[in-house]
Amino acid sequence: MSSNLLKGKRGIVFGALNDMSIAWKVAERVVEEGATITLSNTPLAVRMGTTNELAEKLNAKLIPADATNVEDLKQVFTESMDVLGGKIDFVLHSIGMSPNVRKKRAYDDLDYEMLNTTFDISAISFHKMLQVAKKMDAINEWGSVIALTYMAAQRTVVAYNDMADAKALLESIARSFGYIYGREHNVRINTISQSPTVTTAGSGVKGIDSLLDFSERMSPLGNATASDCADYCVAMFSDLTRKVTMQNLFHDGGFSSMAMSYRAMQQYNKSFDEFKDENGNIIYG
Ligand SMILES: NC(=O)c1ccc[n+]([C@@H]2O[C@H](COP(=O)([O-])OP(=O)(O)OC[C@H]3O[C@@H](n4cnc5c(N)ncnc54)[C@H](O)[C@@H]3O)[C@@H](O)[C@H]2O)c1
Repeated sequence: MSSNLLKGKRGIVFGALNDMSIAWKVAERVVEEGATITLSNTPLAVRMGTTNELAEKLNAKLIPADATNVEDLKQVFTESMDVLGGKIDFVLHSIGMSPNVRKKRAYDDLDYEMLNTTFDISAISFHKMLQVAKKMDAINEWGSVIALTYMAAQRTVVAYNDMADAKALLESIARSFGYIYGREHNVRINTISQSPTVTTAGSGVKGIDSLLDFSERMSPLGNATASDCADYCVAMFSDLTRKVTMQNLFHDGGFSSMAMSYRAMQQYNKSFDEFKDENGNIIYG
């Protein structure tokens, strides 16, 4: 259902690969709310993925670009302002990739070339995007920029590997750039820390099924889906959140504030059943 929250706004959505992508859902929702947008993804993703279908459906120009390449990013902003007819009001950075995760390198056996690539694609691309936009003065006053992140930036999650470090850097860039861009142009920059979500990138995380199940049960509101995330992005791109900036916003059904739930406690206790003495007391070891 549309409330026309983004009527007349122009946006760029980076990172829609297929209909499971969080960026895909965001693109559909922002258009439903009255925005006009362009889409961008790597030339390879444009060839191999289904982003073209989305572009056609939303009547959005698809601009191939490697987000680690400054010249490509300049092109995205130039073309976007050209086809949309003015400066940009919102940008979604929904980009992540770790060659170490892909190649199953353990965190204590990282390949450092690959680590550089992880950082460049998953975090520094955000800085490049912001620096390009600011130098071109491509974002309108009170514009809103969001990057998607994950709680492993704050708390260790098994197998999230070097992506945890990339997300910590991404969130720091949002704060550091948010200060400068806010002070000079009233542009706000935030990260949304999303629940584990079934997508192509999400499936790369070892044990994603157990992770999804655990956080679903642990969160009082359950996991936030990609569609829920799209709704939250609409709110963050709208004028209703004009004074929110430099924040890492948890969007996870409450998971990040939980330490122990009733059910987890029961489950935990069960695991000690075989370690009880004759009086039923747990033998800790
Ligand atoms: N899926 C989850 O569980 C989850 C949870 C929290 C945060 N996130 C974050 O959400 C974002 C979107 O991921 P997703 O889960 O929708 O998966 P996805 O695989 O659909 O999206 C990742 C996108 O990054 C793009 N990309 C990779 N390298 C690029 C480059 N050099 N230049 C431009 N684009 C590039 C891919 O083509 C793809 O479209 C990522 O930042 C991810 O870390 C995902």
